[in-house]
Amino acid sequence: MGNPLNELSGSEWLYWTNTIYPTNYPPDLTHCLRKKHGAIKPPELMGEIITFFTKKEELILDPFAGVGSTLLGAALVGRKAVGVELNYDWIKVFREIQNSFTVGENGFIQGQKGKKIEGTMIHGDCLDELKKIPSNSIRAVITDPPYGCQHRVGFAQETNFSMYNPGEKKDFGNAESFTEYLEKIAEFAQEAYRILVHRRYLVIMIGDRYLNGEYFPLSIKVAEVIQRTGFMWKGMRIWWNQATQRPLRPYAIKKCFVPNITHQNILIFRKD
Ligand SMILES: C[S@@+](CC[C@H](N)C(=O)[O-])C[C@H]1O[C@@H](n2cnc3c(N)ncnc32)[C@H](O)[C@@H]1O
Repeated sequence: MGNPLNELSGSEWLYWTNTIYPTNYPPDLTHCLRKKHGAIKPPELMGEIITFFTKKEELILDPFAGVGSTLLGAALVGRKAVGVELNYDWIKVFREIQNSFTVGENGFIQGQKGKKIEGTMIHGDCLDELKKIPSNSIRAVITDPPYGCQHRVGFAQETNFSMYNPGEKKDFGNAESFTEYLEKIAEFAQEAYRILVHRRYLVIMIGDRYLNGEYFPLSIKVAEVIQRTGFMWKGMRIWWNQATQRPLRPYAIKKCFVPNITHQNILIFRKD
């Protein structure tokens, strides 16, 4: 039987199953525009993930698309992509990238002489927009959602993420409580399940937290909620990007153990 999922060789497939996933991507040409967002992912990483979970020309969706790093990754590896983003400013950044750059023969972003960067951005709340997408029509949902509400998981203290859409109730990052955040994640996962083709994957990138003196396994809590919507939780890869590693901070040195959380979890679910 042929490989129903991707176009990788056996050894490429095997390599990608390693739970430890270190990368070291230098900033690409679009980085100076994308970095206005503050929570971007390397397009090369997104391209690698998309390459594992789809074949050429298949359609993927990023429901929390930001400035479109997943859509850029899809363009690098010859897949079609749709993104949904609540904040129109980030859609404008993606469109500026589409107008300023292309993809070269070598699969890298370059100036004007290569292939147009395809990809459609929809402005809106993904909970509304996903409802308009036909069932069983998307080959992979690959995304990097807001990490949780500002009050309960310490978001606002660590980054300015919750400032992106201040006062916007539809922003997952502005949920009033962690319970509300998980309810929104569950609602999103139900729609993701419906629109995915059978036996295809939902991939979520999410970090853990340290909160009120304890480790807060945010990614595990999110994974358990997603499991309850019908997805099978197939695994997790631990992604560490050496290129953007900040210096370790001396939390509670010589007093007690406090981790420097430098990785993110890539959670992998399948519609079964
Ligand atoms: C972590 S960022 C994603 C960044 C993206 N991976 C990139 O590299 O550009 C999450 C995004 O989700 C958006 N967002 C939050 N709530 C949303 C919602 N209900 N529907 C659509 N987008 C939403 C935020 O505005 C933010 O840009």
